[in-house]
Amino acid sequence: MTHVYHTPVLVDEVIDFLHIQPDGVYVDGTLGDGGHAENILEKMSSNGKLIGFDVDAEALNVAMKRLARFGHQAVFVHDNYVNIDKYLEKFAVRRINGLLLDLGVSSHQLDEAARGFSFQKDERLDMRMNQKQSLDGWAVVNTYQQEQLADIFWKYGEEHHARKVAKHIVEERKRHPIDTTGQLVRCVESAIPKRFMQKSLARIFQGIRIEVNNELENLRTVLKKSLEVLANGGRIVVLSYHSLEDRIVKDFFRGKARSTIAAGSNLLPDQPTTPMLRILTKKPATPNAKEIKQNPRARSAKLRAAERVME
Ligand SMILES: C[S@@+](CC[C@H](N)C(=O)[O-])C[C@H]1O[C@@H](n2cnc3c(N)ncnc32)[C@H](O)[C@@H]1O
Repeated sequence: MTHVYHTPVLVDEVIDFLHIQPDGVYVDGTLGDGGHAENILEKMSSNGKLIGFDVDAEALNVAMKRLARFGHQAVFVHDNYVNIDKYLEKFAVRRINGLLLDLGVSSHQLDEAARGFSFQKDERLDMRMNQKQSLDGWAVVNTYQQEQLADIFWKYGEEHHARKVAKHIVEERKRHPIDTTGQLVRCVESAIPKRFMQKSLARIFQGIRIEVNNELENLRTVLKKSLEVLANGGRIVVLSYHSLEDRIVKDFFRGKARSTIAAGSNLLPDQPTTPMLRILTKKPATPNAKEIKQNPRARSAKLRAAERVME
């Protein structure tokens, strides 16, 4: 069977904002099926390099095959993008010209891999992007305290019925473990009114997925690290798919683009610090109607980009 690749989102915009230097070094922190990476490599000379990270071994295998024609120009790392600094040191790369983060799950993970990400399928409650880690969706749903579950649904899913759903889950699992996404769906369905169902299911699943994969904390960490690894003029481009992620990116960019006043002592005048980033997207770039029609999964995408500036 031929592999149907994940359709990369906002490709032209990603390439434009990365402002590819043909001999540069770029990091794709979320390689997936390698669609964006392929476009980046096509813009580079034979001296350019792309280092691609993915925590998902299956995704990495697909990308390795797809990008094999670029030979030594493509380097693959089976690890979390939060470890970017360690790998750059290992590869003796001092600074990079660009970092791309295309957050969330790939179509492959949602549709083909039977990994329990979708509430439209009945699969084992897994939701791990990294098959090597021990915490999975099953453990969250079957072992977390009721209050912890409610917090996850509220904080990471922004679900209004968070407490009610958590209560139903805890009652249900007293009878038997909740092993599959189908069982979880039925449990949510018994807790809340039908008219909220699709949105609530999406939010509950999002909450569990964020918890399992530590998604928001990982994003905060890599954003901070990007300042240490980007060269002067280097670009960071982030594609996010829900408001929690987008808010983290927006606030981080804004905070680092400002001249901040150092918290000094009362005796010394406060010293203004110089901005570390220049924001390139006042408003996030979003897909147009044509792209959304061709690829409905692109509809919630928001692209934010910034440039590292140094004195
Ligand atoms: C939306 S897909 C990327 C698709 C890719 N841009 C393409 O064109 O095919 C996101 C990928 O990032 C990976 N991922 C998510 N969080 C990660 C992390 N913290 N570190 C490394 N990879 C991560 C997922 O396993 C998934 O394969």
